[in-house]
Amino acid sequence: MKTYNVGLIPGDGIGPEVVNEGLKVLNTAMSLDGFACDLIEYPYSGTYYLKTKELVPERVIDEWRKLDAVFLGAIGHPDVETGLVERSVILGLRFGLDLYINLRPIKLYASNLCPLKDKKPADIDFVVVRENTEGLYAQIGGFLKKGTPDEVATVTGVYTRKGVERAIRYAYEYARQRAANSPHSKAPRLTLVDKSNAIRPQDIWTRAFAEVGQEYPDVEQDHAYVDACTMWMIKNPEWFDTMVTTNLFGDIITDLGAMLQGGMGIAASGNLHPGRTSMFEPIHGSAPKYAGKNMACPLGAIMAVSMMLEYLGERAAALRIENAVSHLLVSGAIPSVDSRSGLSTTQIGDMVVETMRAGN
Ligand code: IPM
Ligand code: MG
Repeated sequence: MKTYNVGLIPGDGIGPEVVNEGLKVLNTAMSLDGFACDLIEYPYSGTYYLKTKELVPERVIDEWRKLDAVFLGAIGHPDVETGLVERSVILGLRFGLDLYINLRPIKLYASNLCPLKDKKPADIDFVVVRENTEGLYAQIGGFLKKGTPDEVATVTGVYTRKGVERAIRYAYEYARQRAANSPHSKAPRLTLVDKSNAIRPQDIWTRAFAEVGQEYPDVEQDHAYVDACTMWMIKNPEWFDTMVTTNLFGDIITDLGAMLQGGMGIAASGNLHPGRTSMFEPIHGSAPKYAGKNMACPLGAIMAVSMMLEYLGERAAALRIENAVSHLLVSGAIPSVDSRSGLSTTQIGDMVVETMRAGN
C-alpha cells in the first residue's frame, strides 16, 4: 500500500483541536481510498517554547525535508514575544523548505455563508497564488538606537527575478489547468496584483508577468493594483479566476477572501515547493480565546487535509473530503463556519467523517 510520511505540528491554541478533526478525516480517507500515512508529531509551538525555551532546531528542518508533507494546526501564544514562534515554525518551514508558493483557494460552497448580498457559489470561486519566500517577509532590516527618541527602523522588500518568475510561472500553469478541469469551460484568466505605481521596484513583477505570459497565450493577462483589488473582491468577486501576488499582499487579500467564503473557519492553504515536501495549514491563527473549548470550526484544517491529499496524488480522497464538506454546507447541516454554528469542533469532524462514509 502506498504510504506517505507526514509531519504533524498541532501547535497552539485551537491548533491541536482542529488538527485532531483533520486526522479523523485523514484516517477515514485512508480506509476508504486505500493508502496509508506514517505520522510523526512535532511539539514546536509557543506552549512548548514557554516550557523548554526551544525553537525549531536546524536538524529538525533537515528531517522535515525528507517527509512527503507537513500538516500544521496554528502557531501563536499570547505569552510569547510577538512573532518569535511564528517565525521559527511557520516561516522556518516556508523559508527552510523553500516553499515558494502559498496556494489559497477562495471558494464559496453555500450562498448563506457569504456576507455579500446576492452572491452565489458561482460568483466566488478563485485562487490566490501568493509568493511565499520573499518580499517584505525576507527578514532584512532592523533597529538602530532602539527605544530612544532617535530610533530608526528599516525593512527591505526583496523581489528576485527567479523568485518572481517561479511564482508567476506556477500561476500561469495553475490557471491553465484550472480551466481545463473546470466544468464551466471558462477561458483562463490570471490577474497580477501589485502596487507598481507607487512601489516602482515592483516593475520586476510587471515585466516578468508579461514575458512569462508569452508562453501562455491561452491565459488572459489581467492586472489590478492591490488597493483596487480589495474593492473588486467585494464589488465583483466573480471577475477573478487565478491571482498572483507578493507575499504581503497575498497575506492581506486572503484574509479578505476567507470572509467571502464564510470566514476564517473554512479557509485552507498549501505551502508548496512542487515536487518536494510541502506544508498544509488552515489560514486562521491559534485563536487563544477559543482554545480548549471545543468551539472552533475545524473545516479549515479539514480542507487543508484535502489539499494535502490532492498534492500527494490522492485525488479521489481529496475530492471525497471536499464533497463531504460541500454537502454539509449546502444542506445547511453546518449552518456557519464560525463559533455560532451551534456545533462543536468534534461534532463537525464527526459529521464530515459520516458524510464521507455515506458516500456524499
Ligand atoms: C498567514 C499568517 C502568517 C503570515 C503569520 C502567522 C506569520 O498570517 O499564514 O497568513 O503572515 O503569513
Ligand atoms: Mg495571514
